[in-house]
Amino acid sequence: MLNVHKIWLLSCLCVVVIIVLYFQAEIARLEDIYHRLEYRLVQSRTESRQFFPKTVEKDDDDLVVIYNRVPKTGSTSFVGVAYDLCKKNHFKVLHINITANMHVMSLNNQYKFAQNVTQWHEVKPALYHGHMAFLNFERLGTSSKPLYINLIRKPLDRLVSYYYFLRNGDNFRPHLVRKKHGDKVTFDECVEKGQPDCDPNNMWLQVPFFCGHSAQCWKPGSHWALQQAKANLVNHYLVVGVTEEMLDFITVLEAALPRLFKGATEHYLNSNKSHLRQTSSKLQPSQETIERIQQSNIWKMENELYEFALEHFKFVKKRLLIKEPNGVAQIFFYEKIRPK
Ligand SMILES: *[C@@H]1O[C@H](CO)[C@@H](O)[C@H](O)[C@H]1NC(C)=O
Ligand SMILES: *[C@@H]1O[C@H](CO)[C@@H](O)[C@H](O)[C@H]1NC(C)=O
Ligand SMILES: *[C@@H]1O[C@H](CO)[C@@H](O)[C@H](O)[C@H]1NC(C)=O
Repeated sequence: MLNVHKIWLLSCLCVVVIIVLYFQAEIARLEDIYHRLEYRLVQSRTESRQFFPKTVEKDDDDLVVIYNRVPKTGSTSFVGVAYDLCKKNHFKVLHINITANMHVMSLNNQYKFAQNVTQWHEVKPALYHGHMAFLNFERLGTSSKPLYINLIRKPLDRLVSYYYFLRNGDNFRPHLVRKKHGDKVTFDECVEKGQPDCDPNNMWLQVPFFCGHSAQCWKPGSHWALQQAKANLVNHYLVVGVTEEMLDFITVLEAALPRLFKGATEHYLNSNKSHLRQTSSKLQPSQETIERIQQSNIWKMENELYEFALEHFKFVKKRLLIKEPNGVAQIFFYEKIRPK
C-alpha cells in the first residue's frame, strides 16, 4: 500500500517537473520572440525619427565607382556581372579604352578624364572599368572623388594565365588570334630556357597598378612602389578582393554598395555566364618551375602585396559577417542629439 503511494507520489512529481520544464522553455521562447519584436520596434521607431543615417537616394545616384582592373585577374567575369545587373539596377557601365594598351595616361588625359568622370552627371551612377593604373583624383583638383575597387590575384597564377592566354586565347573570344598564337613552348620550358615571356619581371604588374602614375611605380623591384601600393590599397580603395574568392568579393560589394550591386550574389551563383572566360589549354607549372620563380625578388614583392591585400580583405569580410548574439547584423545609429 505504502509502495503504491510512493510510486504515485513520484509520478506526480515527475509530471510536475515536466510541466515546469515545459513552461520554462516556452517562456524562454516567448521572451526571445519578444526581444526580437522589441528590437524591430526600436529599429522602426528610430528609423522614423531618422536617427539612422539613411543612405540618401540623391547621394547614391551620384555614385561613381572605378574598377581599374588588372589583366588576367578574373576581371571579365566580374565585369560580366555588372553588365548583367546595370539595366535592372539602373546604373551605367563604361569601359575605359586606353589606346595602345597603355596603363598609364598622359598628363593631359589624366586631367581630362578626372574632370569628365566627376562632371558627367548624365551617366551617374556609374561603374567605369579599364586596364588603368590607379589615378589619384586628389592630385587633379576635382571637387568629388570616385570610389575605387579592384581584384588581386596570386602573382604566379596571373603570369601563367597571361602566358597561355597570349598563345591559346580563351573561351570568351575563341576566334581572336592572339599575339603568340601557335607558339607551343610550355611555361616550364620557357622558364628552363630563360626566355623573356616568363621573365619574373613580367610579374611586376599588380604593384604598379595599385601604386599609380609615378615613374617609380613602374620600376621592377622598387620598394617605394610596393609601400605606395599598400598605402593606396587601404587608403584609396573601398574594397579590394582576391580572384580566388570572387563570390565573397561580390557579396561584400553588394552589402556596401547595394545601389549598384543589389542581387549580384544571387546572380553570380545562378548564372553560368558569370564564370565565363577561361584561358584555353593552360598547363600547371611544375614544382621546379614554381620554386624557381618564387626565388625571384619580383615574385616575393608581388606576393607580399597579394598577402597584404588578402589579409585586409579577410578582415573586412569578417567584420561584415559578424552578427550580434540574436543573429542581427551590425547596425549603427545616433543618440543624444542635442539641442533638441
Ligand atoms: C579599344 O579601341 C581600339 C581602337 O578603336 C580597338 O581596336 C580595340 O579593340 C579596343 N579595345 C577593346 C578591348 O575593346
Ligand atoms: C565626357 O566625355 C564624353 C565622351 O567624350 C562626352 O560625351 C561627355 O559630354 C563628357 N562629359 C562632360 C561633362 O564633359
Ligand atoms: C545555363 O546554361 C544552360 C545551357 O548551357 C542554359 O539552358 C541556361 O539557360 C543557362 N542559364 C542561365 C541562367 O543563363
